[in-house]
Amino acid sequence: MTERFDRAAENWDKGDMRRFIAESVFQTIASRIALLGHMDILDFGCGTGLLGFRIAPQVRSVTGVDLSEKMLEQAAAKNTPQLRMETVCADLLNEPLDRTFEGIVSSMAMHHVEDTAALFRAFRKHIKRDGFVAIADLDAEDGTFHSHGNEGVFHLGFDREKLRETAEEAGFSNVRFHTACTIEKEGKNYPVFLMTATKL
Ligand SMILES: C[S@@+](CC[C@H](N)C(=O)[O-])C[C@H]1O[C@@H](n2cnc3c(N)ncnc32)[C@H](O)[C@@H]1O
Repeated sequence: MTERFDRAAENWDKGDMRRFIAESVFQTIASRIALLGHMDILDFGCGTGLLGFRIAPQVRSVTGVDLSEKMLEQAAAKNTPQLRMETVCADLLNEPLDRTFEGIVSSMAMHHVEDTAALFRAFRKHIKRDGFVAIADLDAEDGTFHSHGNEGVFHLGFDREKLRETAEEAGFSNVRFHTACTIEKEGKNYPVFLMTATKL
């Protein structure tokens, strides 16, 4: 899977749909969560930083974690003295960072992680008390969303109620879902949800 993202990295930001999803997710996060100047935020599966760089101006710091070095190189190349994202190449599930954050955001990365329950447990460990998660991904789909095939895709979207249970079992509360946008492709609709929750 990482090779696939390494290969895609250079042209990632040219994808209109990717930019549209990231922007919609950002707008939905900003309308639901107060992003404040004292906050350190983690962007899980940050890729080239399409979401993280939208959040960065409003908070103290954004740290982007990803498994793909090439995606992270693209993200790091966008850093300016005024607007920065720190990048870390790591698998959060097996290589925890030695710091915690006020919140974790993520867009379109969770379906690439096999064990969703373990991911939420890892999220919880990286969040301060009363911190939040704001995680966007596809609603359950029939496997046709990824037109290049489903290599590295462990979940064909998510059932919102099952995901709520997974998050609650991992120690999150106030779980809410919002539809960030709906992608229309070849006559089919693919809604993208934003799930927000707070650490118990
Ligand atoms: C579909 S891309 C989304 C990138 C970015 N969030 C965006 O919206 O453009 C999914 C990203 O998740 C990363 N990823 C997948 N599994 C991961 C894991 N276990 N830890 C960190 N990153 C992961 C991939 O390398 C890839 O860059």
